[in-house]
Amino acid sequence: MEIRSTTEQDRDAFADTVYAAFARFPESPDALFSALEMERGVLAVAPDGRPVGTAAAYSFELTLPGEILVPVAGVTAVGVLPSHRRRGVLNAMMRHQLADVRARGEVLSVLLASEAGIYRRFGYGPATYTERLTVSRHQAAFAPPRAGGAAASGSIEVLRRADCGDVLEDVYDRYRRARPGALSRPHRWWAGGAGQPPVSVAPRYVAVHRDDDGVADGYASYAVDAGTLTVDETITADDAVATALARFALDHDLVTRVVFKHCPPGHPLRWQFADFRAGQAEDETDWLWVRLLDIPRALTARGWEADGELVLDVEDPFLDERGSYLLTVRDRKAECIATDRNPIFRWT
Ligand SMILES: CC(C)(COP(=O)(O)OP(=O)(O)OC[C@H]1O[C@@H](n2cnc3c(N)ncnc32)[C@H](O)[C@@H]1OP(=O)(O)O)[C@@H](O)C(=O)NCCC(=O)NCCS
Repeated sequence: MEIRSTTEQDRDAFADTVYAAFARFPESPDALFSALEMERGVLAVAPDGRPVGTAAAYSFELTLPGEILVPVAGVTAVGVLPSHRRRGVLNAMMRHQLADVRARGEVLSVLLASEAGIYRRFGYGPATYTERLTVSRHQAAFAPPRAGGAAASGSIEVLRRADCGDVLEDVYDRYRRARPGALSRPHRWWAGGAGQPPVSVAPRYVAVHRDDDGVADGYASYAVDAGTLTVDETITADDAVATALARFALDHDLVTRVVFKHCPPGHPLRWQFADFRAGQAEDETDWLWVRLLDIPRALTARGWEADGELVLDVEDPFLDERGSYLLTVRDRKAECIATDRNPIFRWT
């Protein structure tokens, strides 16, 4: 089995192989694959010359605690044809890809896992979590705001997602820079107008919130089906705007339930209702998985909230590496060096 990096010439064969691995047919291949950086793709090619496995990576920016942005590899399009599974193809592609990510100087690789059992052996672990909030619309009266709790002023405009990619891109970019765990999104996802992964590429309406000066400062993309309004994602860096967008969704006529997808666990919306039971949190699950490739650089890049000292013993069986590190945080600035001190944490 040959494992090699791809070029622009491989784009069609690459897309065909991923779709076959997932047993799906392309709905809108441009939206999903037009932003792929083909020089970052990996193809597994069988001895007869047929491609049988794929992996790719986007060059994303990830926001770390402290609102620090770092370049990361965003692993995607991982698939092996059903006819060639469990023979080590993925293992070999992961090895090839991690070497490439390291060579590019990226200290972290991230992904969304289709199944939780796949990626731990390659050194990935869950770093953020998500849940869905289902709200019974007629039960969901808001409690009176506390004194001093500012309601958002401004206005909401309903647009079609395909018509307002530039507005959404701008709102998203401001949001993700302020939100640890958020990733940048390639311009082509927005320019395609069809939506962007991980949010469905199906058509959506978007409630765009604007401040008193008319500047867009938040949006919620949604669709209504059989009495349920589903909000794919609410994007804003302003809590009062998030509440205004939730009120918009809950005020929608001909709807009995509102489902808010992709909420961080413990989302504050339920605490704003007069009746806490109006909302049900469901399907809490892992979201972004992270793999460190350079421990000292990764731990010193991020911000820290408290001073202290930790000795970490890190075993990396997949890359056959091991090291002990002393992490020291003083005045919220971190230093991380190799040490022979005994570990406080054992981390494998
Ligand atoms: C997941 C997938 C890429 C694995 O490819 P593969 O070539 O069969 O994997 P490998 O043979 O290299 O297996 C590597 C290891 O992972 C394990 N593994 C593979 N797929 C697994 C799964 N779905 N769940 C749990 N373990 C899995 C193997 O048992 C093997 O373990 P070992 O190293 O202890 O022997 C392939 O099954 C696939 O294409 N699935 C459908 C698409 C998909 O889910 N892609 C992932 C998107 S995030």
